Formats: sequence, structure tokens, C-alpha cells
Amino acid sequence: MRIEENYSLREHNTFGIEAKCRRYVEYSSSKEALQVAAMLRESSTPYIIIGGGSNLLLTKDFDGIVVHSAMKGRRISGCQVVAFSGETWDDVVVASLEAGLSGAENLSLIPGEVGASAVQNIGAYGVEVKDLIEYVWVLDIVEGRIRGLKGCECGYGYRQSHFKEAWKDRFLVMGVVYRLSSVFNPRLDYGNIRQELERMGVTQPTAQQVREAVISIRQAKLPDPKVEGNAGSFFKNPVVGKEVYERLAADYDGMPHYPVDEAHEKIPAGWLIDQCGWKGKSLGRAGVHDKQALVLVNRGGATGLEIVALCQTIQRDVYDKFGIQIQPEVNIV
Ligand code: EPU
Repeated sequence: MRIEENYSLREHNTFGIEAKCRRYVEYSSSKEALQVAAMLRESSTPYIIIGGGSNLLLTKDFDGIVVHSAMKGRRISGCQVVAFSGETWDDVVVASLEAGLSGAENLSLIPGEVGASAVQNIGAYGVEVKDLIEYVWVLDIVEGRIRGLKGCECGYGYRQSHFKEAWKDRFLVMGVVYRLSSVFNPRLDYGNIRQELERMGVTQPTAQQVREAVISIRQAKLPDPKVEGNAGSFFKNPVVGKEVYERLAADYDGMPHYPVDEAHEKIPAGWLIDQCGWKGKSLGRAGVHDKQALVLVNRGGATGLEIVALCQTIQRDVYDKFGIQIQPEVNIV
């Protein structure tokens, strides 16, 4: 087990923000995870559990314990892909495709780790990881025992799960069992995957080619955190009632939207922010990406509070213009 005291989290958040924690603990096996759980149970120190830090905004030093899984390893048998929580998500996508399994290709290049994939219910291009999760193996910190939770028990919704709410801080994720498919069922209708495949000269894509199209779209729109700190989408796309959508659609011809159910529509937060004129703009050292207004960036040396100030200003402007309250998707600590 790795334990560090008074430890910088700069390398553990893709915003690249400098903040320290009192103690950093990393477990590499289930035995170590049990020891960590006992440490958390026995101490009254607050703790947070992090993954790759790609959905994390640190606003201050954390006077507590930061816990991270470094459990590595994966196994594929039949259509099942079993991965430990510290594996990089995209490596799982690559390994699955190499094994002839599809289903995860639309989720290519999403940053972060396997544990967080199950906590955040990562999603892109019409697929959410909940559609692929069979079991999540967790260590119950309170009871000190390892349990398997069925995917359908985890309260999954758009960017939502029990792990983020009712079960917050209760479980350490050990590993995830995904069920993929040996028969390729392409999902090309969301965003501009089809146009990208056309541009690539592909008419009957393989799952690998869909991965390549997704990678190329993401790389064109999303900033590389190694170059400019960011956490991908900063806000969730708001879900609004049909009547709100219809009122806005009458004023804004061609407003993008995705149907959720009979009574609700999802409106891209990036579009709302863009309409407010924020794309490419900055407030102090925090900025809005110039190719995708949903992404807030660290222009260099920004503090977490500067990013929060930009977030709040944008929220207010979107509310004033559209009457819609957009909410952050990133975890603010
Ligand atoms: N749009 C604008 N201006 C912008 C950004 C977007 O007008 O600055 C419009 C686009 O033209 C498009 C629509 O908004 O019509 C949607 O944009 P996009 O396809 O880029 O997707 P998104 O809804 O902004 C969501 C996810 C992304 C995911 C993409 C593709 C959320 C919060 N974000 O973004 O997820 O990659 O769809 O599926 O749901 C992430 O979570 O970090 C992430 C990048």
C-alpha cells in the first residue's frame, strides 16, 4: 500500500490544479483495500475517493484522506470483460476490440479509470457505460466486506448513480464486469459520427473504425489536458420539460436537442453557453474552450476558485438568457 503525507494532488487532477491533502492512500490489491477500509472506519478523518481525476475540481487543500485504487489487471472470457478499478478505461476499450468484442467503441478515449466509469456512468455518442455493466465489485467500507452489485441495482441515469448520491463514500470499487457483444451493432446516429465516417471514406464501418471516428471527433473538439488543464464537459446537459423546450425552440430556430421521454428534452449546455457568447472567453486564468463551450479550461496557473467563479458567472448568464439552471458535472471538492 502506498501512503503519502501532506501530498500534492496536482498529478491527480486533469485541471492541473495545485492542492494538497493531509494523507494520500493507494491500494493495489483487495487485501490492501480491506486495510484502507479499516483505516477509514477507525479514523474520524474525512475522506474522498478519486479515480484518474478527470472529473475533479479541487478548490482548496483537503484536510483529510484521499483514496485511490491502483488495482490493475483485466481478463476477457467470452463476452465478459473483467477489469480492476485502477485500469485505464480506454485500455479496456482497446483490449475488448482486439478480442473481437464491440459495444464500448463509442466510449473511446474517455479519460479516467474503470472504477470511475461505474461511479460516473460515463457516456458519449449515444452510449452510456451502464448499458455494458453487468456487475460492480465493491468493498463496503462500513461492513468491511467485498460484495458484487448488479448493474441494475446501481441507480444509473444520465451522469448519475447511487455511488454519487445515496451510496456516496460507502464503497471502494474493486472491479467491474462488463458484458460486450461478439456481434457488431453499430450506433452511428448520435452527433456527427456518420459524417466523420463518410469523411474517412467508410460506408460499412467496423467497430474499430467507429472508434477511430470517435477519436477524431473528440480530438478536434476537446482540449488535451496535458496541454490545457480541463475535465471534459464541465456541465451536465439540462433536461427540461417539453413546454420549456417548445418555448425556446420557437425563439431559437435550429436549437439542438435530444428527446429524453414523452415529456422531456435534453438541451446541450454547450449550445446554451455558446449562445451567451462565452466560447473562447476567459475570466482571470479560467477560460471556456474555443471549440466546445461545455469545457472549462485552466489557461495556466488557475486556482480551483477561479474556475468556480467562471462556472457561477456562466450559470447566471445562462439562467438570465434562457431561464435554465445548468449544473456542474464535475465533482467540486
Ligand atoms: N454546441 C454548440 N456550441 C458549443 C458546443 C456545442 O452549439 O460550443 C452544439 C453542437 O453544435 C451540437 C450540440 O451542441 O449541436 C451538442 O454538442 P456535442 O455533440 O459536442 O455534445 P455535448 O452534448 O456538448 C455530450 C457529452 C460529452 C460527449 C458528447 C458526445 C455531456 C455533459 N457531455 O456533449 O461528454 O463526448 O455529448 O456524446 O453529456 C464529458 O462528459 O466529458 C464529455 C465530453
